Amino acid sequence: MSLMMTRYKSSLTTRWLLIFMSFMITSTYSSPPDDPIKCSSQTTNCTITNSYGMFPDRSICRAGNVAYPSSEKELIALVADASMKRRKMKVSTRYSHSIPKLVCPGGQEGLLISTNYLNKTLMVDPSKMLMTVETGVTLKELIEQAAKAGMALPYAPYWWGLTVGGLLGSGAHGSSLWGKGSSVHEYVEELRIVSPAEASEGFAKIRTIGRNDPDMDAVKVSLGVLGVISQVTLRLQPMFKRSLSYLVRNDSDLGSLATTFGNDHEFGDISWYPNQKLALYRVDDRVSSNVSGNGINDFIGFRPTPTLALALVRSTEETQEAVGDDNGKCITAKITTTGLRTTGFGYSNNGILFTGYPIVGNHNRLQASGSCISSPNDGLLTACPWDARVKGQFFHQTTFSISLSKVKSFIEDVQKLRDLEPKAFCGVELNNGILMRYVKASSPYLGKQEDGIDFDITYYRSKDASAPRLHEDIIEEVEQIGLFKYGGLPHWAKNRNLAFDGVVKKFVNANAFLQVKDKYDPKGLFSSEWSDQILGLQKGVTIVKDGCALEGLCVCSQDSHCAPNKGYFCRPGRVYKEARVCTRLRSN
Ligand SMILES: Cc1cc2nc3c(=O)[nH]c(=O)nc-3n(C[C@H](O)[C@H](O)[C@H](O)COP(=O)(O)OP(=O)(O)OC[C@H]3O[C@@H](n4cnc5c(N)ncnc54)[C@H](O)[C@@H]3O)c2cc1C
Ligand SMILES: *[C@@H]1O[C@H](CO)[C@@H](O)[C@H](O)[C@H]1NC(C)=O
Ligand SMILES: *[C@@H]1O[C@H](CO)[C@@H](O)[C@H](O)[C@H]1NC(C)=O
Ligand SMILES: *[C@@H]1O[C@H](CO)[C@@H](O)[C@H](O)[C@H]1NC(C)=O
Ligand SMILES: *[C@@H]1O[C@H](CO)[C@@H](O)[C@H](O)[C@H]1NC(C)=O
Repeated sequence: MSLMMTRYKSSLTTRWLLIFMSFMITSTYSSPPDDPIKCSSQTTNCTITNSYGMFPDRSICRAGNVAYPSSEKELIALVADASMKRRKMKVSTRYSHSIPKLVCPGGQEGLLISTNYLNKTLMVDPSKMLMTVETGVTLKELIEQAAKAGMALPYAPYWWGLTVGGLLGSGAHGSSLWGKGSSVHEYVEELRIVSPAEASEGFAKIRTIGRNDPDMDAVKVSLGVLGVISQVTLRLQPMFKRSLSYLVRNDSDLGSLATTFGNDHEFGDISWYPNQKLALYRVDDRVSSNVSGNGINDFIGFRPTPTLALALVRSTEETQEAVGDDNGKCITAKITTTGLRTTGFGYSNNGILFTGYPIVGNHNRLQASGSCISSPNDGLLTACPWDARVKGQFFHQTTFSISLSKVKSFIEDVQKLRDLEPKAFCGVELNNGILMRYVKASSPYLGKQEDGIDFDITYYRSKDASAPRLHEDIIEEVEQIGLFKYGGLPHWAKNRNLAFDGVVKKFVNANAFLQVKDKYDPKGLFSSEWSDQILGLQKGVTIVKDGCALEGLCVCSQDSHCAPNKGYFCRPGRVYKEARVCTRLRSN
């Protein structure tokens, strides 16, 4: 008992230490993320990884060399040269945030075309509400440049570090059902894209695709397989103010409330803490510009965080996993989520202090954040919490959107599972719960097909691929209920392999996309094993081997896919009988 108490206390202390230390740091210094590309000599013989330093299958991707064009002209020359030599190519970005292997070129000798130096703002026109940027511009830069001209990108992902090319490529979004919805690609007015071509056309071709061009629905969300987008023109809005506050409710009516909340509040989202039976509704709307307030969002989870604190928090969770201390996780989760809410998540009312809700401020200061990428280097004293160079966060992320008509049933299924095994959800709560964001039906062939909610579930991943997780059967069942029972569409830039098994069949216009791909890149120079697999052109999205279900590389069909030697066996789900999950069978 006293041992348990000590453990609780130490985990509480470390969580608080983390939150406290994050507050103390005034985010003037950080350690910006590592370059995802490493080459043995300057720009040749390279490897590429993602910002977490690990792909779902833990493999390493290689490339023959990397090129850093700084103009469209250089870009065209590069594509022409590679196309003449029939080399495989792939676009890479400054931080490479996508979890799956979207960024790996099709062969060991492939070419990486980095957009690091394609980062200029080309045109800002407040009279037309348009802005043109090169594709490597980050969301942070885009928001700032637009704001200087009195304009706002109405909806966006919450993290500054994404590039315009990368977020379009993977269909990234914020939360809204209003206007054209929360996906950034809905605000593209025109873009330019460079693709391979025949010798007669000089081996590369640049196309300008306008809003009404029939190809727009393919190039807006392209997974990078159509060529390199060089520049993008976005339609913006006049700057406006928002006011946000949080409403805490028990989750007994979450299923029905979630289906209407998004219509009631333009920027609303919901964080769900299943074990605590609570849902946190972000009530967030436009307000008149004369409402006073100069709030700012500097989300704690995206701040430079002391690496010492990161290591302590990680060690605590590793210990809790090793000894099966779900109570410890639950207590820490409750403290963490309550602490985050009452201290304002990193919002401040005036740019300095949090004095309470509502937070009122200009949209550009509230819509996204990420001070851990933009502060001068302090040599890894602090870092983004998931920086792979230090011991810190290491997680799986399961993210899918479910159509509004099915959201209630999905939530009720998860609640049934929760009632059977409430503590199974504490690990998810440690990552601020299940984040629910609104996405709207849109026209791109690989975009959302129905209005829905995107469920973002982040949970512990072991450094040891063969180590099962605490209550992993329950979270695996949630994953399979969402993806298979309710046909959830996976986020292209997140998820574990199993989410993409047969995914292309879920898109009614997949063939239209493939036709455009054949037209733009008939030799598939921008395609890779991974892109062929998710587009259904090649088998092998799931990798079947011992322990594969632990990492989400497969859905288990036999015990060896779990960890029988550690007591985890492949069994049916408890609410969704068709699910197959790795269940711990106790000997007593
Ligand atoms: C901390 C964090 C927060 C996040 N928050 C959100 C969120 O709020 N909402 C959300 O939807 N997602 C979110 N994501 C996921 C994110 O949307 C994707 O990881 C993101 O879209 C990738 O952007 P990137 O610039 O890093 O591109 P990468 O991951 O490097 O590239 C993505 C794909 O696009 C292709 N590509 C990139 N540039 C071009 C180009 N110029 N031409 C053609 N193809 C190109 C690449 O080849 C690759 O296939 C988050 C990720 C992280 C790490
Ligand atoms: C390429 O780099 C790897 C290490 O990443 C090294 O082992 C190998 O020898 C290098 N090959 C060449 C040809 O330089
Ligand atoms: C573009 O990127 C380069 C290389 O990282 C950097 O030196 C430069 O300041 C960036 N320019 C802008 C406008 O952000
Ligand atoms: C949940 O809250 C509602 C009111 O918001 C209340 O009527 C209901 O009794 C509560 N349920 C539980 C289980 O606490
Ligand atoms: C704020 O502006 C609105 C119109 O946009 C007006 O109706 C309202 O009276 C104004 N309020 C104050 C306090 O000035």
